[in-house]
Amino acid sequence: MQPESVAEAAEILRSAQRVVAFTGAGVSAESGVPTFRGAGGLWEGHPVEELASPRGFYADPVKVWRFYEERRRNLANVKPNPAHRVLAGWQERFPQYAVVTQNVDGLHQAAGARGVLELHGSIWRMRCLGCGREREERTVPLPRVPPLCSECGAMERPGVVWFGEFLPEVVMAAAFAAIEGCEVLVVVGTSAVVYPAAGFVEVAATAGAKVIEVNPEASSMAHFADVALRGPAGELLPLVDARLAEI
Ligand code: OAD
Repeated sequence: MQPESVAEAAEILRSAQRVVAFTGAGVSAESGVPTFRGAGGLWEGHPVEELASPRGFYADPVKVWRFYEERRRNLANVKPNPAHRVLAGWQERFPQYAVVTQNVDGLHQAAGARGVLELHGSIWRMRCLGCGREREERTVPLPRVPPLCSECGAMERPGVVWFGEFLPEVVMAAAFAAIEGCEVLVVVGTSAVVYPAAGFVEVAATAGAKVIEVNPEASSMAHFADVALRGPAGELLPLVDARLAEI
């Protein structure tokens, strides 16, 4: 399957020192997590953009909480796939390496990746609306109403970034620095239609990085790609990795 592109990708990566893997929902598709724009965009008849928004949450916190609780329950049984494992393994291969993800599912970390930059937060974190305390919460299932903060008693919300909210500043700054300074950007499973995804690819390419896109379909940023691996990440990344391991 696509032997030339696999070989080209491995060739680009072979001598690289500074590499960033930038991922979206597609990297988790083979683990059984539906992609964002592939799911029809509705949950119990409500547009996902409305549920995943501050307005939606304040209008009906219990409904939005049930939506997230269902996602948490589904994700609790999901395992990382070979794409997550290859991307985690690369932290031992490249002297400077970062995984920057738009996903909130925690699967990169489950595969062993450290210091993952989660642009959209994590479904496994809770944030108190009163005192702002953040905490990890892995218990599944939780009651079907939003939890209350054990410190101040206010309602908690999922620690994810909602539509209309700013991305976490510290994470964004770290991601931007890594992307601006990388030699190779490996873009995996993102449609790259929303910012900062679209911007990141352009920033890296403009700064002179080689771009490798891994996606069965061309993303909106595919024109920046030096190499396009058109197929499922869980199949193609292991091929690139095997090729890299040869000498
Ligand atoms: P999308 O659902 O927009 O795009 C998923 C991409 O994965 C598509 O380009 C698919 O072609 C590709 N894909 C599908 N299966 C694949 C596979 N096996 N291997 C590789 N690629 C595959 O998801 P994102 O780009 O992640 O933000 O969406 C970005 C953000 O948009 C989300 O994080 C979300 C949404 O607004 C927030 O929730 C804040």
